[in-house]
Amino acid sequence: MLSYRHSFHAGNFADVLKHIILIKILEHLGKKDKPFCCIDTHAGPGDYALNEGYALKNREFENGIAKLWRRDDLPDCIADYVTLIKKFNNTDELSRYPGSPLIIKQFLRSKDRLFLYELHSTEIQLLSAAVGRDRRIKVFHADGLKNAVGLLPPNEHRGLVLIDPSYEIKSDYKLVSETLIQMHKRFATGTYALWYPVVERSRIQQLERAIKTSGLKNVQLFELGIKTDTHEHGMTASGMIVVNPPWTLAAEMQQTLPWLSDMLGIEGAGCFRIETLAGE
Ligand SMILES: C[S@@+](CC[C@H](N)C(=O)[O-])C[C@H]1O[C@@H](n2cnc3c(N)ncnc32)[C@H](O)[C@@H]1O
Repeated sequence: MLSYRHSFHAGNFADVLKHIILIKILEHLGKKDKPFCCIDTHAGPGDYALNEGYALKNREFENGIAKLWRRDDLPDCIADYVTLIKKFNNTDELSRYPGSPLIIKQFLRSKDRLFLYELHSTEIQLLSAAVGRDRRIKVFHADGLKNAVGLLPPNEHRGLVLIDPSYEIKSDYKLVSETLIQMHKRFATGTYALWYPVVERSRIQQLERAIKTSGLKNVQLFELGIKTDTHEHGMTASGMIVVNPPWTLAAEMQQTLPWLSDMLGIEGAGCFRIETLAGE
């Protein structure tokens, strides 16, 4: 049974990186008139209160979105992200944070489509309420890793698959790379964004090796760390592995990640990685 609830973590440093990259990919897809299709394999509940409930337990958003909220010196990509989050807050107080489904919804045009998967029985109800009735969006109470592959290739032949598991089950680390490779075989021109947490560095090294040796081409990795790696429990860094990224993304992250790691790193331990796992 799944027990992970993203509400404890909404708006933390990992969400900041993930959602900045998500926004950059969506902006890029929106540049052409041709419709796109987006699949979010692990959608979560979609909408989070930061002023009550689970978010206040560990207050993770305080070392994330809250540190950026009132600044007027943000690099462009971070400024665009904060501007989008502000649209979900009616006052200038930070009280609400949109998850990936609501962020993606902001970028949908009339002919674009969004498929959302969520397995948790409570989160799926929250998700359906958060996205509301929208003919462009389909919500499935199902396993996104197993089922989303069947949607590929989408009719649009353009789009993004966001893979954002909670890694509650350790076999997920292996399963994500296998699923990504399987999806890519069916839809080689799609963009894929795979999120990972650094809790045990060796698991990420294995994941990187699996991708490097898979034959996938045009793969970049973007990672943001707030502490040095440790063998103790806890996430020290997180990253996004992007297949077929927008051609501008690496340069944008070169401007964004140094600033973000200075701002969110704890006691000066912020760090980042920008790497090409496979060339074009
Ligand atoms: C990290 S959260 C998602 C956060 C969301 N993508 C965002 O950025 O706002 C992961 C979610 O995946 C759900 N989940 C776990 N395994 C799943 C699976 N195999 N298929 C679909 N959802 C799953 C969990 O219940 C959890 O809500």
